[in-house]
Amino acid sequence: MFKTGSPVKGADFIDRKKHLPIFKAYLENNQHVMIKAPRRFGKTSLVKHVFEHESNYTYIYVDLRRATNLKLLANQIIEKAYSFVGIDNFFYQFKKSITGLLKSIQKVKIDDIGEITLQYLEKDEIDEVEYFLHAMEIVETIAAKKNIKIKFVFDEFQDILRIADNFILEQLRSVIQHHENVTYIFLGSIETIMTKIFEDKTSSFFHFARVMPLSGLDVNELYEYTKELLNTLKVNYDESLYNFLFFLQGHPDYSAQFLQSLYFKIKIEDIKIIDNELCIDTLKNSIIENRAYLEELIMKAKQKKHHYEALLSIANNKVIKLNSKTLYSVHSSLEDMGLIKKIDRANYIINDIFLNILLQQKDDENIIIEIDRHNK
Ligand SMILES: Nc1ncnc2c1ncn2[C@@H]1O[C@H](COP(=O)(O)OP(=O)(O)OP(=O)(O)O)[C@@H](O)[C@H]1O
Ligand SMILES: [Mg+2]
Repeated sequence: MFKTGSPVKGADFIDRKKHLPIFKAYLENNQHVMIKAPRRFGKTSLVKHVFEHESNYTYIYVDLRRATNLKLLANQIIEKAYSFVGIDNFFYQFKKSITGLLKSIQKVKIDDIGEITLQYLEKDEIDEVEYFLHAMEIVETIAAKKNIKIKFVFDEFQDILRIADNFILEQLRSVIQHHENVTYIFLGSIETIMTKIFEDKTSSFFHFARVMPLSGLDVNELYEYTKELLNTLKVNYDESLYNFLFFLQGHPDYSAQFLQSLYFKIKIEDIKIIDNELCIDTLKNSIIENRAYLEELIMKAKQKKHHYEALLSIANNKVIKLNSKTLYSVHSSLEDMGLIKKIDRANYIINDIFLNILLQQKDDENIIIEIDRHNK
């Protein structure tokens, strides 16, 4: 079946036959890795699937999109790290009894790092950056002392620049480069910023991690999976099914939504054949179901000068009348918003295929989609 709405793992996880062995080999060799892909491309799913279903690594997962400041982020890391040495609910214990907590810390023998954590917590004012870097040190110390390897996932890593200034990158790098027992996995959906952080020669994270771009799902793989499911359901299909999957370019989220809607239609309306008409209807519905999210993207673009016009020109392959300097800066800004991607010199595409369709519409009420035929 196709699951939508949250990251998928286990039986719901499809394909990624090329990415899984590479990612697993990096982990096994303690090689830090950075995975970049636009939003909804399955980064979190890939990582959760591997950690929860295909390996037994001890790991810490933090999502920087949800982090409001470095202190709370550090607390989350500290709570998890101490749980690896049997100290659960660190902050609850701290509130209940500091001396009790101190005793538990001393029992697990992790140098004096525990005492340092308590000193931080007893201060009236904490330097957030120092405290966060201390949290990172705890992870390495616990891994070293307990002789375990820890995998550390930063999801939406570029968001660290939202809660701290640029200098944090240098500070973080200088601490974690000495870690021998922790492997870092950095995920990010704003590709330009991730590229700047990890692939720009002047950045402190340059060459720190192997870079793994994550493309869409393999259309043939997805088609095989779908065919098998339809065969067990005794439902027929014509060539439109492949054409539509091809059109969706393996976009994990939209393909899953489209196939899930088809599945429910088959079940509820007792449909026996998947044809062009059914696919068109289903795809239109999927776009409408994502409308609020897409309108939000459009709204964000409209708030900045020329941005919306530039999006329209890319989606409709039309020239925009702007001087080259302005156009360059609008394109860069749209890239930093994660909305477009440069494919070669002065040639851009819209990252979100549904947004691309919406931007091509002349009439808002009646969505028109053109699907090409493709040979398998
Ligand atoms: N391997 C997969 N098999 C099946 N469906 C998938 C797979 N990967 C992703 N999906 C679908 O895409 C959706 C988005 O995936 P996920 O949340 O992992 O993406 P993401 O890149 O982390 O997105 P975001 O940038 O919004 O956090 C999932 O809810 C699921 O429906
Ligand atoms: Mg994610």
